[in-house]
Amino acid sequence: HGTSRINNQGQLEIGGVNTVDLAAKYGTPLFVYDVALIRERAMQFQEAFKAEEVPFQVAYASKAFSCLAMFQLADELGLSLDVVSGGELYTAIEASFPMERVHFHGNNKSIAELEMAVEAGIGCIVVDNFYELRELSRICKERQHRIEILLRITPGVEAHTHDYISTGQEDSKFGFDLVSGQVHEAVQQAHEDEFLNLLGVHSHIGSQIFETTGFVMAVEKIFELIGEWREKFNFTPSVLNLGGGFGIRYIEGDTPLPVGEYVRKMIEVVKEKASATNLTMPEIWIEPGRSLVGDAGTTLYSIGAHKHIPNVRDYLSVDGGMSDNLRPALYQAEYEGVLANRANEEATETFSIAGKCCESGDMLIWDLPLPKANHEDILAVFCTGAYGYAMANNYNRIPRPAVVFVENGDAFEVVRRERYEDLVRLDLPLPKKVSK
Ligand code: LLP
Repeated sequence: HGTSRINNQGQLEIGGVNTVDLAAKYGTPLFVYDVALIRERAMQFQEAFKAEEVPFQVAYASKAFSCLAMFQLADELGLSLDVVSGGELYTAIEASFPMERVHFHGNNKSIAELEMAVEAGIGCIVVDNFYELRELSRICKERQHRIEILLRITPGVEAHTHDYISTGQEDSKFGFDLVSGQVHEAVQQAHEDEFLNLLGVHSHIGSQIFETTGFVMAVEKIFELIGEWREKFNFTPSVLNLGGGFGIRYIEGDTPLPVGEYVRKMIEVVKEKASATNLTMPEIWIEPGRSLVGDAGTTLYSIGAHKHIPNVRDYLSVDGGMSDNLRPALYQAEYEGVLANRANEEATETFSIAGKCCESGDMLIWDLPLPKANHEDILAVFCTGAYGYAMANNYNRIPRPAVVFVENGDAFEVVRRERYEDLVRLDLPLPKKVSK
C-alpha cells in the first residue's frame, strides 16, 4: 500500500527509500512514515467535502502521532489540529501551527491548560462538562476575551469496536449526556454566556469504525436535539463536529471504507436533516487520527533471539516491543509484517514475534508466516503510524525509537532516538547523608 514496494533486490522500499538502508543508517527499532500517503489521505478527506460544496474543517487528531514535523506537515496540508493536553498544545505552539485552526479537547482540562489555550488564542475549545464550562467562562471574563466553543455530547451510539476505545455510549466519562437533560442545560448556559460563543456540538462515537451506520445515528440524535434548542433557547448550531474514528486495514480481515465514503454519507444525512428541519446547512468538522497516519507508518526491527519449542512454536524476538507498540498488549491488536531485506521470498515457516520487555504479554504478532528468518534479518511491521510512537514508553528503561519521514527518495529524521543519558535526565540522586 502507499508507496511501499519491493525493489529489484527483493528489499522493501518506502517513499523511494530502501528500508534496509534506513535501518543501517538510523538503527532499529525505527518508525518510517510514508509522507505521500499522509498527503493523499488528507486530500481524500478534503476533496470529499469540496465535491459537495460543504464548508468543513478536517482536524488531525494529533494524539495518534505528534511531533513538530508532523504538526508542520498537517499545517502544510491545510488540516486543523485537535489537541487534548497542554503538551500537545505546546507542541503546536512550538511548531508555529496557526492557533485559529487548533481545537482543544479533553474531559479534564486543567485551569492552567485552559488559561494557556485562551492566552495562545486557540480557535475552539470543545467543552466537555459543567466544571469546564464555568471555569472557561470565568477565565475568559477575567481577560475580557470571547472564545468559540463546541459542546461535546455523548450521543449514546455505540460503535462496534474494542471496549476501551468506544466513547459514544451513555455510560462514558466524556461529554454531556442526553438522557438526563444535562445537555440542554449546558446549551442554554453556553448560549447565554457573554464570553462564550457557542458554535455547535461535537460527538465522537469510537475508533477503528468500518461502517457509516453509527455516524448516521449520531447525526439523527443531534437533529432531534436541535429542534428542542431552537424552540427553547433560540439556538441553532452552525458547526457539527462528528469526531474521528474512521478505520484502517491492519490485517487482511479488516474492511474499512475509503475515507471519502464516510464523509459523503455524513454530508448526505446532515443535508437531508437540515433541509427537513429548515436549518441552514451547518459546517461539518471531523477529526481523523488513525486514518491519516496509521497505515503510513511502518516499524523496522532487528531480529535477535530465536526460540524453537518442538511441536509448539517458534519465537522470534525483536529489539522493541510493547515499549514502542502497546496496542497488541493493550487491545489484542493484530498486525502484519515481512522481512524487509527479503520481502520477495516466500513464507515457508510460522514465527511468533516477541518483544524484548520482561513480560510474557509482550508479543507483537502471533503466528506470522515468514521465510526462514534469523538474526541477520530486519522485520517490517506495517500500519504502526497511529498510537504507536504516541504511546511509546520507557518500560524496562528501553529508549524510544527514532522516527523518519520518507518521500520521493529522501529520508528526514523527525524525532531522534532516545539515548541512555536521556533516560536519567530527569532523575535526581539521593541527597548525600549529612553527618551530624
Ligand atoms: N476525536 C476524539 C474526540 C477522540 O477521542 C479520538 C480518539 C479521535 C478524534 C481520533 O480517533 P481516530 O480517528 O484516531 O480513530 N489508543 C487507541 C485509540 C484511542 C482513540 C482515542 N480517541 C488505539 O490505539 O486504538
